[in-house]
Amino acid sequence: MFSKRTKIKILLQSDKTDFEATVMGWVKTFRNNQFIALNDGSTNQNMQVVAELGLLDEPTLKRITTGACIKATGKIIPSLGKGQKIELKATAIEILGDSDPEKFPLQPKKHSLEFLREIAHLRFRTNTFGAVFRVRHALAFAIHKFFHDRGFVYLHTPIITASDAEGAGEMFRVTTLPLDGTAKDKNGEINFKDDFFGRSTNLTVSGQLEAELGAMAFSEVYTFGPTFRAENSNTARHLAEFWMIEPEVAFADLDDNMNLAEDFIKYIIRFAMENNREDLDFLAQRLAEEEKSKPQNERSEMGLIEKLEFVLNNHFERLTYTEAIDILRESNHNKKKKFQYPVDAWGIDLQSEHERYLVEKHFKKPVILTNYPKEIKAFYMRQNDDGKTVAAMDILAPGIGEIVGGSQREERYDLLMKRMEEMNIPSEELNWYLDTRRFGACQHAGFGLGFERMVLFVTGMTNIRDVIPFPRYPKSANF
Ligand code: 4AD
Ligand code: MG
Repeated sequence: MFSKRTKIKILLQSDKTDFEATVMGWVKTFRNNQFIALNDGSTNQNMQVVAELGLLDEPTLKRITTGACIKATGKIIPSLGKGQKIELKATAIEILGDSDPEKFPLQPKKHSLEFLREIAHLRFRTNTFGAVFRVRHALAFAIHKFFHDRGFVYLHTPIITASDAEGAGEMFRVTTLPLDGTAKDKNGEINFKDDFFGRSTNLTVSGQLEAELGAMAFSEVYTFGPTFRAENSNTARHLAEFWMIEPEVAFADLDDNMNLAEDFIKYIIRFAMENNREDLDFLAQRLAEEEKSKPQNERSEMGLIEKLEFVLNNHFERLTYTEAIDILRESNHNKKKKFQYPVDAWGIDLQSEHERYLVEKHFKKPVILTNYPKEIKAFYMRQNDDGKTVAAMDILAPGIGEIVGGSQREERYDLLMKRMEEMNIPSEELNWYLDTRRFGACQHAGFGLGFERMVLFVTGMTNIRDVIPFPRYPKSANF
């Protein structure tokens, strides 16, 4: 299919020399009017293309600039220079696309991540983002492989929905009604009958409810798609549009759910370690350099690779919410009033400072917290016999905080209906969902993994806006 060229990665991987090859890519640097560092995105390594003096005329040489796209044909030979094993001794070089060096914003030097975020359409061409997005790809592939190999069915749940799966109400509205006020009826109410779907609709916050329907037929399903939250969270951990993976498993309880989540996370990390080692080594180096600019006490104890290996080789700590509250309440950190939100009573929602204390200071490893107070969790979680807690589980990761949220589901119709009433969830709108509890209900459980938070964890990047190609967050929907 790609007989016109060979990928640079393929050429660099083999030890073969003395054969004819064509490469195509974008110029990183051009030295001494002879040495082109060429990158085609297949790897962070560049191919050194040598244009011997006299091969090209002066006007063509001037067009070999950083960012230009070129095609080079020649012989692959052992490199005489340091830094690369092989190089391409060009017999022909063609400029496919010029790049005005006065205007191209990427220079062969280190740019700040903030600057690169402003030119997100070009940042794929940097080493850092090349590595990040190849790793993101590998993780996505590993996710499908993990579930496929275990017989899960990939279910495509709707993006546009009339229900609020989390009951949290932080949704983007989808409408074709005019914004000029003419969509209102005599009483000043919006007339959704005239809207495209004839009812009020939103972008989905989660595919879980539909996944539960799938699990009641296929036994094991998963979703992997974009989800949307209109929460006004301007943090390095939140996006308005993010990707979520949501497995849902019939006949599973909370323990099965935790085991699946832990196996799953370890599997995809291992896949990236085995298949993207070069990119991860690069990102580890990048992180180590970034850490150097921090004060000693804020630096992380482990490098990126060490951290990933540590996660692979250790069990996630499992404890209940109640046990976690005790640890937090008794901690010196709390007693010295170092938490912004003091931990005084059972029932509080954990803030990310609390989650990070547990993971980074107390246990120093990923933690699974279970059995949260029902008041701070969604309506669909299975109610425990104590009448106070639900069979929830959150996985907290070092440096990230919550990475997974899940639960065993309330499969008992009466108890589910009662909880929905208490929480003012309109049951008429969820009749289709309630049918799973009417016809062949069974124990089941599932969870949601925030894909970008997972990519953050594996790449060691620190801002979630740097691990999705075109981030959406409050006041920003560029590109
Ligand atoms: O905890 P959440 O809200 O759980 C659900 O949506 C369930 N329906 C999942 C399920 O049981 N099937 O979200 C799940 C995960 C979080 O743990 C977090 O990793 C991620 O999604 N997440 C976000 N990631 C980026 N930006 C946001 N605004 C996020 N909100 C949640
Ligand atoms: Mg959650």
